[in-house]
Amino acid sequence: MKRDGISGLIRRFIPYFALLKTVRLQFAAALACGVVFGVASGFGLPVMADKVLPIIFRDEPPSMTVLLVVTAFIPLVFFVRSVSGFLNVYLINYCGGKVLEAIRVRVFSKLQALPLDFYQKNKSGDLLARVINDTGQLQGVITSVANDLIKQPLTLLGALGAVVYLSLKQQELLFILGMLSLIPVCILPVRIIGKKLLHRAHRFLAQTADLTSILNENLTASKEIRAFNLEKREISKFQGAVKELFFWSMKVVKYSHILSPTIEIIASIGVAATVFYAASKGIGLEQILPLLFALYMSYEPVKKLGRVHNEIRKGEASLDRLEYVLATEDSVPDPVAPTAFPVEHVRGEIAFERVFFAYETGIPVLRDVSVAIAPGEVVALVGPSGAGKTTFANLIPRFYDVSAGRVTVDGLDVRQLRKDQLRRAMAMVPQDPVLFNDTVRNNILVGNREAMPKQVEHAAQQAFAHEFICNLPKGYDTFVGEKGMRLSGGQKQRLALARAFLRNAPILILDEATSALDATSEEMIQRALAGLIKDKTVLIIAHRFSTIRLASSILLFESGQITAAGDHDRLYLTSCVYRKLYAQQDMLTEVSQFFHDC
Ligand SMILES: Nc1ncnc2c1ncn2[C@@H]1O[C@H](COP(=O)(O)OP(=O)(O)OP(=O)(O)O)[C@@H](O)[C@H]1O
Ligand SMILES: [Mg+2]
Repeated sequence: MKRDGISGLIRRFIPYFALLKTVRLQFAAALACGVVFGVASGFGLPVMADKVLPIIFRDEPPSMTVLLVVTAFIPLVFFVRSVSGFLNVYLINYCGGKVLEAIRVRVFSKLQALPLDFYQKNKSGDLLARVINDTGQLQGVITSVANDLIKQPLTLLGALGAVVYLSLKQQELLFILGMLSLIPVCILPVRIIGKKLLHRAHRFLAQTADLTSILNENLTASKEIRAFNLEKREISKFQGAVKELFFWSMKVVKYSHILSPTIEIIASIGVAATVFYAASKGIGLEQILPLLFALYMSYEPVKKLGRVHNEIRKGEASLDRLEYVLATEDSVPDPVAPTAFPVEHVRGEIAFERVFFAYETGIPVLRDVSVAIAPGEVVALVGPSGAGKTTFANLIPRFYDVSAGRVTVDGLDVRQLRKDQLRRAMAMVPQDPVLFNDTVRNNILVGNREAMPKQVEHAAQQAFAHEFICNLPKGYDTFVGEKGMRLSGGQKQRLALARAFLRNAPILILDEATSALDATSEEMIQRALAGLIKDKTVLIIAHRFSTIRLASSILLFESGQITAAGDHDRLYLTSCVYRKLYAQQDMLTEVSQFFHDC
């Protein structure tokens, strides 16, 4: 992307001006205040000096009344300048804040729409940094830029007007030429330093994201860190990242602050030249003072605009990182309106037709998988770990799209259905269910947000969760803690099952849903499941064979392929892999039965 040049920079930010629509009144008022401030500063102050000084310092002193009126003029101009300056900053910050709010929500909304593969390619800590740090950085930039973006150019224009006016008045055009020639000299460092700053700001932000990632990972793995004595390793990792962050932050500080002194030095040369010229020509103090004032008022905005340019460069680096999220294309897009089939009543027929799938190109996970599941059928998926069972289930709600072949529901390619409608027809209990940091009730309501309290309790009863929920300090209103950490593994699984009961969808997918349950709960859930699966298409992925007793057919997965299918007896006779799996499971079941009997 070509970034050079102010015009390119402005073009970059133009799409975001549309976000100002909701605050157009405040923005217009801010602009008006900026104009008043600019004129009062750039033109008002030097011209005031030009009018007031000769009256005060003329040979015969003015009367008290004149002196009072004339000196009162000084605070009046400053009053107008200060009040308009404050209102300008306040209103621009308000507008900037609103724009930022909209960008934040836009990025967050985009994150909700992006498919799971996006989260595999990007570290969660990095995304966290983009949403929190980069938007924060952008806010800082907007705030500081807001102070100057309107006021300074107008002050500069006002001051230029004053220089022209005063020079013409004194018939000294050289002042104008001198001043104008110095402005390009000031622009040069602005551009060079701005470019360097953009690069450093990028590195600084990437390093901030690294630090957030390390912290995020550390906080989520607190148990493992203690169990494996990894504290020292973690501290040194964090120390290294902090050190690197300091290095890049100092680079940013250097290039952010080197500009003002550079322009000040150039400006002082201009002032010195003016004084030298005026003195050699014998021009009096009261004539030269307003001009010096006007000169100062024109270099000051150039200096501040240089700073603004730097700030925008820093903001641009943040914007790049946010736009990366905004510009990411959905790899699992919804069909466009004319080709989308509305889903009204799903019967639950599922078919895989010569499906190939790979998470990463070149590493196939499912290979040529074909299977047809009739509505109301209960199918168990078994096979060694890593064989592709969860992956198979992930393709039905379109968490990922197939690489080749197609997956259909009720005879329709899932890519032709809107994702929200497709997923509404399914209830899923994943291998590792996640609870929200909310109450037990709200966690179950995830299954169906319109359900009544009675329905929630009924679902909990069906999942054999009601009893333990009633024993919690606040019953259904107990907070479960982050990721449900105040609950045991089995309790979490039962809440996840309650969600599925509440959803009551025509397709039910259970991925190891009962693995963390004790034998007693599992037995009870078996009975509950028997009721739940009536008239539903059910996929049960389970290592425990007790869980798949309800299945009418079994699919055996091996290395991404279905190598055998049929009922238990048939598979037991025909597949030695199945027999081996069964033998292992049988042993486990016996052991758990033994403890149960004890
Ligand atoms: N998100 C992912 N990105 C890349 N590869 C993945 C991802 N998820 C799974 N895989 C790979 O795909 C293969 C199949 O994984 P899958 O989770 O479907 O196995 P599974 O049969 O459910 O195993 P288990 O019984 O252990 O749950 C494995 O080799 C795994 O390494
Ligand atoms: Mg799995």
